[in-house]
Amino acid sequence: MLRNNCRSQYETFIRKLPKTELHVHLEGTLEPEMLFRLANRNRIALKWKSPEELRNAYYFQDLPGFLEVYFKGCEVMKTAQDFHDVTRAYLERAEEDGVVHAEVFLGPQTFLAQGVPLEAIMDGMFGAIDEMRGRISCFYLSSVIRTRPESEALELLELLAPWHDRIAGFGMGGAERGNPPSRFAGYYRECRRLGFKTTVHAGEEGPAEYVREAVEVLRPDRIDHGKTAESDPELMKLLAEREIPLTLCPVSNLKLNVIRDMAEHPLKKLLDAGIRVTVNSDDPAYFQAYVNENWLACAEALRLSRADLRELARNSFLASFLPESEKRSWLAQIEAFSEK
Ligand code: ADE
Ligand code: ZN
Repeated sequence: MLRNNCRSQYETFIRKLPKTELHVHLEGTLEPEMLFRLANRNRIALKWKSPEELRNAYYFQDLPGFLEVYFKGCEVMKTAQDFHDVTRAYLERAEEDGVVHAEVFLGPQTFLAQGVPLEAIMDGMFGAIDEMRGRISCFYLSSVIRTRPESEALELLELLAPWHDRIAGFGMGGAERGNPPSRFAGYYRECRRLGFKTTVHAGEEGPAEYVREAVEVLRPDRIDHGKTAESDPELMKLLAEREIPLTLCPVSNLKLNVIRDMAEHPLKKLLDAGIRVTVNSDDPAYFQAYVNENWLACAEALRLSRADLRELARNSFLASFLPESEKRSWLAQIEAFSEK
């Protein structure tokens, strides 16, 4: 009984805390019900009989195993309406969690390779973002896949030129081991030269050296994941000194067997080392946990205090690409929330 009370107190506190979400792939928000709806609409045959059967198949061995299922799911997203519906559903769900600002990834390469026009992707996604303005703010981060050639990433950057004023930044995901960050040095140099913010997935399954290499060679504004930096005290010091945020995704780490138990997660260790860590969902439909479920899982397993939770909320704004004035205004609201 007491446990349930504690849980509900945590839940209410977390839901009411103003927060951002900075690491979520729109492709990873495709719920089985939506996947079936889009497959029917686009006359695509599926090997599962029902959304329940599909959801029951969501057990992953590791990141490459997960990505196979994730890219299969992407095959049902074809039209501007599809990209609109997926984006809108995520934003409505995030709003329920008290997310006031989201920075979302979507990787056009997957869809271009399936013959989907770039206009359909951008029109659908930005249409939903615009409709939801006033309820939740949302920035788009374009993402490339690290197992594809760097030249393709540079080509995509050019193809996106008509939308550059609507893109907040560029990132990179995909299977990490064997694909070190330095392969994309030229791409990141070009993104920075054009004045974009940058993030890079590093230190999810890959070693701490990949995080160091990402920081030194790619010079990103944020590291996505960065979990394995915990094994290198010098690197932790560097991340803290340079104020390079980590967008941690605790439930993703658990579901992809990066950790065996949430109590093992280094979030609290990294937070206590003065690193700007944030909590995010990554691919919430596949890991069956939206952002608040990630907060709650950490809060319970790592016995986070209310002060820790407020710091995570502050970090979520400090690590965002919002203008400084908006960051200050949200930090003041978190302060006022704490005093209540
Ligand atoms: N793309 C979608 N989810 C990802 C993850 N967890 N790691 C790398 N790339 C991804
Ligand atoms: Zn990710």
